[in-house]
Amino acid sequence: MDIKNRNLEFNNMPQHIAIIMDGNGRWAKKRLLPRTMGHREGMKSIKRIVEACMELKIQVLTVFAFSTENWRRPQNEVSYLMDLLIEFLNKELQEMHENDIRIKILGDFSSLPKNCVDSIEHALQLTSENQKMTFNLAINYGGRTEILQAVKRLGQEISEGRINTSDISEEVFSSYLYTNTMPDPDLLIRTAGELRLSNFLLWQIAYTELWITDVTWPEFTKEHLLQAITEYQKRDRRFGGLSHQ
Ligand code: FPP
Repeated sequence: MDIKNRNLEFNNMPQHIAIIMDGNGRWAKKRLLPRTMGHREGMKSIKRIVEACMELKIQVLTVFAFSTENWRRPQNEVSYLMDLLIEFLNKELQEMHENDIRIKILGDFSSLPKNCVDSIEHALQLTSENQKMTFNLAINYGGRTEILQAVKRLGQEISEGRINTSDISEEVFSSYLYTNTMPDPDLLIRTAGELRLSNFLLWQIAYTELWITDVTWPEFTKEHLLQAITEYQKRDRRFGGLSHQ
């Protein structure tokens, strides 16, 4: 990837990029393939985009791999996705670790099949000290569930006298979310053209710039990522204030 000739402003890169990887099914349907083949092709896109984000020195990359609502899909598709997760970790973990990538899970992965939980725990443990980039896989993730579990944990802390209600700032609340102390996403990319947030990172995206493309996730390349970042750099982020220009 030739990033030198892109006129990117390296002092204005998004620190955190989040992606709703949509359109695997449509990609497959258009090619008369089973939906599962779309997910398999989507797995290759994840690898490409992790590599691109490393090259671009992005600090945090978050991808929405499985939502709390995705359990409603046919059983065979759900188990295919679970197996793909294990395959992905088996294939990529070593290289990611060598590249100093820290893997994190956003979501409650304890209810996944045992072999998934084992693979995840191994990946988390192996990469926990890595520094270059954080790669968040949102699995069994829902934004409302995330906020609710934070509220419940905070309630518990209050009732046990460990924290006062008056001390709960936005910063304190954020630290109870799966993203903990990570910066909020600067850029949210959604592929396959739908104009919705789908219960993704609801708290964290308060001031995130959105970039939506009709390109499906299996077709998404480094070029599209660069296009999204170039577009992001043209945005005037005011955070509710007035323009600097
Ligand atoms: C949306 O496509 C995608 C998902 C529900 C899951 C994302 C999964 C992958 C990219 C596969 C690899 C995953 C891992 C964890 C390695 P869709 O099926 O909703 O597409 P459609 O809207 O066109 O039907």
